[in-house]
Amino acid sequence: MTDRADRYTLGSHHVRRIGYGAMQLAGPGVLGPPADRRAAVAVLRDAVEQGVDHIDTSDIYGPHVTNEIIREALHPYRDGLVIATKVGAVRGPSGSWEPATTAADIERAVHDNLRNLGLEVLDVVNLRAMFSAMGPAEGSIEAPLTALLDLQRRGLVRHIGLSNVAAAQVDEGRRLAEIVCVQNHYNLSHRSDDALIDELARRGIAFVPFFPLGGFTPLQSSTLDAVARRVGATPMQVALAWLLRRSPNVLVIPGTRSTAHLRENLAVSALTLSDGDVAALDGLVARG
Ligand SMILES: NC(=O)c1ccc[n+]([C@@H]2O[C@H](COP(=O)([O-])OP(=O)(O)OC[C@H]3O[C@@H](n4cnc5c(N)ncnc54)[C@H](OP(=O)(O)O)[C@@H]3O)[C@@H](O)[C@H]2O)c1
Repeated sequence: MTDRADRYTLGSHHVRRIGYGAMQLAGPGVLGPPADRRAAVAVLRDAVEQGVDHIDTSDIYGPHVTNEIIREALHPYRDGLVIATKVGAVRGPSGSWEPATTAADIERAVHDNLRNLGLEVLDVVNLRAMFSAMGPAEGSIEAPLTALLDLQRRGLVRHIGLSNVAAAQVDEGRRLAEIVCVQNHYNLSHRSDDALIDELARRGIAFVPFFPLGGFTPLQSSTLDAVARRVGATPMQVALAWLLRRSPNVLVIPGTRSTAHLRENLAVSALTLSDGDVAALDGLVARG
């Protein structure tokens, strides 16, 4: 549900639609510490100073490192700051992303997040489906979701979301629990979730696209560059503006280690795309 165009409901809060994704604050490959921990702390503090009230994380980033940096930078947390995390995966010995979906895995992950973030309750926990690490794949999420619901009943988790899921898994999840958000791979050039976004919008559920700027392979397109020149913005700003324009339930969480990029990303709230620019950008996928 939205009360103002720049905010949307995420669990108990109306958060700003431009948040911050903390994953890449860990070291290369999302493993170990960053080269410049002080810079990572500074980016997080600046984000919150600039009004960011939604930070996305997971205890498997590092592992533990990203959450420890968030805690160092921001604890005790400002009222109204929503930290959304995720469970359902672990890192293998060489950094692979592996499923971890037994009840014991889910409980361990919740406690890892609580300890490393310094919290007594997690505001939003996404269950990350891992039938395929590469994207949504068929399979029931009932068992891990039931385990997460049990932790919610015990007061350790306030709200539940889903990640890396297909529409059928969202339906399954909604039959079992109140789902407040869905976090899937989506951006200008990766648009498999167009129908799902519209369906979630009808139901008042937030959609949080991960890799909004292309993740490890940043978006590149001459159309994006041309629109950016026309509106006097950077291509990455246009990519974010397009996501915000896509649907009112879209909450973006661009990640950056740079305060300058953070400020650019937050400035997108003042950027309006014309219908012609949106049509040109919409055409990118159709044209491949
Ligand atoms: N649920 C899941 O399975 C899942 C998977 C992946 C990610 N996520 C979440 O999604 C969040 C966002 O994903 P992401 O950070 O991997 O990818 P992203 O936001 O698509 O892109 C991050 C990349 O874009 C660059 N960047 C950011 N702002 C920029 C700007 N204004 N101009 C130019 N470059 C810019 C960053 O480099 P600089 O550092 O140099 O700015 C970084 O390399 C993550 O932090 C994580 O919380 C969730």
